[in-house]
Amino acid sequence: MIDSSVDASPLLPPDSSAWLGRTLALSCGLWHGAADLDAAQLGKYRLLADWARITAHVRVLDVGSGHGGMLRHVSDECGVTSACGIDSSGEACQAVMRLGLPGVRTYHGDYRGFAPDRPYDVVVSIGLLENVAGPLEAARQPDICAEFFALAHAWTAPGARLVLETTISGHQSDWPPEASRYLEAMRRLGLSGALLSLDRLLATCGQWWEPIHVRTHRDDYARTFSDWARRLRALPRTVQDSTLADWLEFTTNGAVLFRHGALSVAHLGLRRIDCSGARFPRSPAAGSR
Ligand SMILES: C[S@@+](CC[C@H](N)C(=O)[O-])C[C@H]1O[C@@H](n2cnc3c(N)ncnc32)[C@H](O)[C@@H]1O
Repeated sequence: MIDSSVDASPLLPPDSSAWLGRTLALSCGLWHGAADLDAAQLGKYRLLADWARITAHVRVLDVGSGHGGMLRHVSDECGVTSACGIDSSGEACQAVMRLGLPGVRTYHGDYRGFAPDRPYDVVVSIGLLENVAGPLEAARQPDICAEFFALAHAWTAPGARLVLETTISGHQSDWPPEASRYLEAMRRLGLSGALLSLDRLLATCGQWWEPIHVRTHRDDYARTFSDWARRLRALPRTVQDSTLADWLEFTTNGAVLFRHGALSVAHLGLRRIDCSGARFPRSPAAGSR
């Protein structure tokens, strides 16, 4: 499905697998027992699939699915035969369709315009929430998160699970000098920097979703950023893309911010709160089902 009102510009430079690895995941790998970046991303997919109790028979919705690393995992490793990836990047949606995963489709558009034909059993969202609000909208981030959790509730069946990865503000409130170079690179790349604290994130989701698993993986994201930067530095000089210098700036300085503790990353495993609708504020999607 195509929502023509959204920007179809490519998210990543061509051949980004040279620095992002096979999955093209622009999100945190989990390095425990992992020999390289691909194994670290697989470790993250395994953890989230386990928390979400994904088996062959569940219907999975991946919001902000990017190039489809998680969708490929649930299809190939969990045997899922009904899944949908939502992404506002046309290039990312096309990349997912090129994977040719049986029963996996995409919705190209803003997730706030999505209305499912049938309820889903699992919602996955990796690296989306911190990218929805532009820097100028940072103050709206709690509303954006609340709307996301309400929508995910409206899209799902009783008993559903939601697994989430999002960058959060870390425990250090003093930001090191690298922060300005990181934020500048993000601005040039069109990425957002609007973050919540873990407390705020949990308080926001709690109206619709019960936290079952809550973990932070700051060191893992520092290592992922460092690995991206190392691979970017090693690219042959013949690789031409005007944004590569910005990606290098973003990854090099991002690694410092995660190591310092100014930034962190949360992984949440949540269970849908199933009770009479009267308890809930009206969800934005309630009218579209
Ligand atoms: C940081 S990337 C993460 C992608 C993927 N989940 C991964 O792990 O690599 C965030 C993704 O969210 C998508 N996105 C951002 N805002 C969106 C929106 N409002 N609706 C749908 N997708 C959105 C972007 O196009 C991008 O593919």
